[in-house]
Amino acid sequence: MQLRDTRVIVTGASRGIGLAIAETLHERGAQLVLVARESEELRAAGDRLGAQVIAADLTDPTTLAGVVEQAGDVEVLVNNAGMEMTKPLWEHETDDLRRIMQLNLLTPMELTRLVLPAMLNRRRGHIANVSSLAGAVSLPGYASYGASKAGLTHFTACLRADLRGTGVGATVIEIGTVRSDLLDAVKSVDTIRRSYGRLYKTGLFRDLDAEPVARATVRAIERGRRHVWLPRTAALAPALADLPRQVVGLITAGIRHR
Ligand SMILES: NC(=O)c1ccc[n+]([C@@H]2O[C@H](COP(=O)([O-])OP(=O)(O)OC[C@H]3O[C@@H](n4cnc5c(N)ncnc54)[C@H](OP(=O)(O)O)[C@@H]3O)[C@@H](O)[C@H]2O)c1
Repeated sequence: MQLRDTRVIVTGASRGIGLAIAETLHERGAQLVLVARESEELRAAGDRLGAQVIAADLTDPTTLAGVVEQAGDVEVLVNNAGMEMTKPLWEHETDDLRRIMQLNLLTPMELTRLVLPAMLNRRRGHIANVSSLAGAVSLPGYASYGASKAGLTHFTACLRADLRGTGVGATVIEIGTVRSDLLDAVKSVDTIRRSYGRLYKTGLFRDLDAEPVARATVRAIERGRRHVWLPRTAALAPALADLPRQVVGLITAGIRHR
């Protein structure tokens, strides 16, 4: 899909991976709508990239219709905003599960539901969901985060089956560790640091910078690719997890909504 003059919403675009994706889209000439909670960082990113800025707390489902309305006629939605919750389930507090499942899974699903009718009418559009390898592998401390990302990955695959023949595409970005505030917070947890230490020793995992992840994401949107799997050395994990989906996709090829 050609991105020049295309209107794109990026959630979680005030810093980290979302900001890097927004910067790469800006280089391609996209018209940007940046969403995050109210902050100086968000306003500065908007000014620098000539973007519309929408301040919203995406853990609040009542904000979502307003976000899409303010954003106008978007052709690409990048669901990137996310939070970590790296602790055992028994240490979660009352509202933790609702917040993480809302921000990491339900909000992307609902934003997608809200933007799709216009994309389908136009027969042009793309949904890109920033998931995680934590949705394909299990680690201690990842019960809620891993479940939210496994849900987002599987949602994207099923959505793609729904979208066959519509002109609208969907990409899931399944990535390992990427240097950001979120990663710093995750690595402050002892169990996680020790788990990552073992994973790094396999030679398959390493911390990535946000920029190559952003470039791969934008290329995948342009080329209509189904997946971004990074680091490439760890791609076997999401590829194996995806195998049953691909096999059933082949068996049901050509079946479309009338
Ligand atoms: N970093 C990694 O190692 C890694 C690995 C795999 C997947 N991911 C995924 O990549 C995505 C981006 O992560 P990151 O590492 O770039 O994290 P980050 O640096 O913490 O950035 C998160 C972004 O989401 C926004 N956000 C957080 N809570 C929000 C809320 N309630 N409402 C609206 N916006 C909110 C933040 O802005 P405000 O806080 O200002 O609202 C910020 O713009 C997430 O979905 C994450 O799960 C990250």
